[in-house]
Amino acid sequence: MAVDLLLGLQWGDEGKGKIVDVLTRNYDIIARFQGGPNAGHTLEFDGIKHVLHTIPSGIFHENAINLVGNGVVIDPVIFRKELENLAKFNLDFHKKLLISRKAHLILPTHRLLDAASEASKGKAKIGSTLKGIGPTYMDKTGRNGIRVGDTELPDWKVRYRALADKHEAMIDFYNVDIQYNLAELENDFFSAIESLKKLRFIDSEEYLYQAQQEGKTILAEGAQGSLLDIDFGTYPYVTSSNTTAAGACTGLGVAPNKIKEVFGIFKAYATRVGSGPFPTELFDDYGATMGRVGNEFGATTGRPRRCGWLDLVALKYAVQVNGVTQLMMMKGDVLSGFDKLMVCTAYNYKGDVITHLPYNIEEQNVTPIYTEMKGWKEDLTKMTKHTELPQALNDYIDFLEKELEVPIKIVSVGPDRKQTIHR
Ligand code: IMP
Repeated sequence: MAVDLLLGLQWGDEGKGKIVDVLTRNYDIIARFQGGPNAGHTLEFDGIKHVLHTIPSGIFHENAINLVGNGVVIDPVIFRKELENLAKFNLDFHKKLLISRKAHLILPTHRLLDAASEASKGKAKIGSTLKGIGPTYMDKTGRNGIRVGDTELPDWKVRYRALADKHEAMIDFYNVDIQYNLAELENDFFSAIESLKKLRFIDSEEYLYQAQQEGKTILAEGAQGSLLDIDFGTYPYVTSSNTTAAGACTGLGVAPNKIKEVFGIFKAYATRVGSGPFPTELFDDYGATMGRVGNEFGATTGRPRRCGWLDLVALKYAVQVNGVTQLMMMKGDVLSGFDKLMVCTAYNYKGDVITHLPYNIEEQNVTPIYTEMKGWKEDLTKMTKHTELPQALNDYIDFLEKELEVPIKIVSVGPDRKQTIHR
């Protein structure tokens, strides 16, 4: 049986949580494969909004098993908080939520190191969510990390101490003003580890292999977006994992030839939180309207998101790198009332017209080249069928499909799971 992937194609916050929630009824297993609590997946149903950070978005579906894969980094303190927030739903976590023994742990000192590293960078800071993501992946690839399964070993606290001591020395090295009480943070951390240990730790690659043998359906849920990929994103303003399709293979132990559909999610416009290049960014009323109507504030940090026109150069690149087979366009409703829509179809880069993402986007060297499209006035939020969509929106969709050469199968017209139009 095949594995399907669901990925964000821009700089994150495309609305993956909602779509996974809509799609989950078709899958037996939902698996997160990278990232950690830097993600904020928002789900809305029955008038209530839920934000998940590490727990996969299939958690509310009765029969779905939710798996946190080996490629994910887990902060036990945030994880416990997430579980507490879900307590009122009476979900059977022991049955529904599985954790890979190979997933790495975010230690309190990883978070402190993240803060120290960012503070030391001054204006060049990445705009990290400060959840300790970068330092944890550094320890993973540096072969110093502590994995979930290690907490079952008798000597793991000795290893913890050695690593935390090293981190403290590194924090001193940064020589920045970071206030903290490590003893307090550690108390919290170790008690959260005990809560984590109440869940089931598994060898998830084996579990997924057996599940495939038994004909179970699996959806791999990406976090962040393709343009934040450590290799293919706008480096160094990226996150520290592979957010693109290949990340699902390494982050779950799924073989590449087992992947079938690759669902690519994008917003009808573009947003970015944190620093880094964003060629189509708007500083005018259009951008302000996107931010206000689209409620563009980070689900994890609450920071306002930068807003801009849709960038097809970047989107095509993401479609290409991921091998996207179906597209899903989110937040079309936010653009209702715009008199015009601009779509970036090429860049003027150092005097040349280019249609690919260059090695380095220095903002001063890139000017977007736009195609202007008509806007629409109609409120989309009550629409339920694709035949109801206004002509100008259909023209916009047709234009994107032609440029991207992949069908747009879902148009989302509001945050609720019901506000989803299939084409
Ligand atoms: P980090 O992964 O927390 O270190 O953050 C690195 C960059 O990725 C920053 O610009 C963050 O704002 C951005 N980022 C990380 N996670 C997300 C996300 O889930 N959505 C959008 N941006 C994110």
